[in-house]
Amino acid sequence: MVARVIPVEDFDLVIFGGTGDLARRKILPGLFHRYLAGQIPREARIVGAARSEMDAEGYRAFTREALQEFAPNSCKDGGQVEAFLAMLSYVAIDARGDGGWTELAGLMRPDVVQAFYFSVAPALFGDLAERLHGHGIATEASRIVVEKPFGRDLESARQLNRGLAEYFTEEQIYRIDHYLGKETVQNLMAVRFGNVLFEPLWNAQFVDHIQVTVAETVGVGGRGEYYDKSGAMRDMVQNHLMQLLCLIAMEPPSKFDPDAVRDEKLKVIRALDPVAPEDIVRGQYRAGEDGPSYLEEVGDPRSTTESFIALKVHVANWRWNGTPFYLRTGKRLRARMSEIVVVFKEPPHSIFGDDAGRSANILTIRLQPDEGMTLQVTIKEPGPGGMRLIDVPLDMSFAEALGESGNQMPDAYERLIMDVVRGNQTLFMRGDEVEAAWAWTDPLIAGWEARRDKPQAYHPGTNGPEDSLMLLHRDGRRWRDLEA
Ligand SMILES: NC(=O)c1ccc[n+]([C@@H]2O[C@H](COP(=O)([O-])OP(=O)(O)OC[C@H]3O[C@@H](n4cnc5c(N)ncnc54)[C@H](OP(=O)(O)O)[C@@H]3O)[C@@H](O)[C@H]2O)c1
Repeated sequence: MVARVIPVEDFDLVIFGGTGDLARRKILPGLFHRYLAGQIPREARIVGAARSEMDAEGYRAFTREALQEFAPNSCKDGGQVEAFLAMLSYVAIDARGDGGWTELAGLMRPDVVQAFYFSVAPALFGDLAERLHGHGIATEASRIVVEKPFGRDLESARQLNRGLAEYFTEEQIYRIDHYLGKETVQNLMAVRFGNVLFEPLWNAQFVDHIQVTVAETVGVGGRGEYYDKSGAMRDMVQNHLMQLLCLIAMEPPSKFDPDAVRDEKLKVIRALDPVAPEDIVRGQYRAGEDGPSYLEEVGDPRSTTESFIALKVHVANWRWNGTPFYLRTGKRLRARMSEIVVVFKEPPHSIFGDDAGRSANILTIRLQPDEGMTLQVTIKEPGPGGMRLIDVPLDMSFAEALGESGNQMPDAYERLIMDVVRGNQTLFMRGDEVEAAWAWTDPLIAGWEARRDKPQAYHPGTNGPEDSLMLLHRDGRRWRDLEA
């Protein structure tokens, strides 16, 4: 099976922060891959913009290096690399200054799609919006792409939204949550709404509970100072885990269209109950053989910021009443693994008797590594040993099922940037969604700050703090093992 590539129309894309880490690791390699796939027309223009002084040749050399480092296997055809680099130019611009804008205006073509990627600190979003407008560069048809973190609480998110809304309509703003660009995340919608098999069972009557895990093996490393101001709740739960939760819990939208999908997601966020203190577990990793402790890495022995969090969450509506959603995410854990696990209830009665064994169906949606889905079903153990039941996985690893194209699935950023050019906002967060997510998050953070709760220390390379295991044990459940 070969993935179909539908070329996008001609565009001008300006990457503010074009010399930054995200541009080097994701945006430029992502654009290159889409170019190689034949999705980007040769006439398209990509303009890097940042304060550093360099010319177009300098930016091409910078990008060549980035591609060699982050997309080495795609650089074998030197001719293709050079053809891609020929699409690049560069303008030195300070988001807060007035130099360079006229030059940028001269590079933009009025008759093609115009997109501005704000890959800079959020504090600069307002400045960029104002100057793009003030210098007459942005038009009513221009699109802007903004990166996370979109605020650190409801008030700051509102301010960012207001700052952008002064110059751009909601239809022009693309707020990135790269989890939404992952193939499996979109497949979650395909599985739910493209089959008759699951949707009738997708509710509290048949689903015992749901687990969402995003586990990392690395610590905060060089990001310590930044991370310590946010923590796992702000950095991961408020955006990525919340988005996954929405896609699992939402009602079927009437169509796969940006507002229909986002309306349903918003309803889920608004239906979330506040979380009781005993349903929140926060942790900090200790020092291990291969690295310092969280407190050492952030350089503050009194920090109470969490590098791990687990929560038991209730979606208070008819569909989910009584089915808890357990969310957990953390650093320096046993394995790097992201997955959604839907644990169905056991059959109400076993006709085979208790000795035969019984268990529940489990649908596992793996985001990384090895994107794919597994459905655990119960069958008879083969052989003459009588009627004994065992669980076997119905496995749909994309790499196996889809062959070559399953192995070469575009990175989330590639897909999302192409969606910007296509003008499709379905996989981007709407302003009210982001605000609703902060409105739910803020009181939880304020609660543990007021109680002066301290995170529980956990050993690196484990499943996180003991209390996180207890969060499920006391409900008679257990987390799935963390394994890569
Ligand atoms: N890196 C990631 O993996 C990642 C992941 C998710 C989200 N993000 C978000 O993406 C954004 C960029 O992250 P990053 O990691 O690429 O940051 P970074 O490595 O620090 O790069 C920042 C970029 O902004 C430019 N810049 C700084 N001040 C500027 C100004 N006043 N005017 C114009 N350009 C300016 C810098 O170039 P000059 O110094 O030359 O101006 C550089 O190109 C941030 O909002 C970050 O939170 C990053």
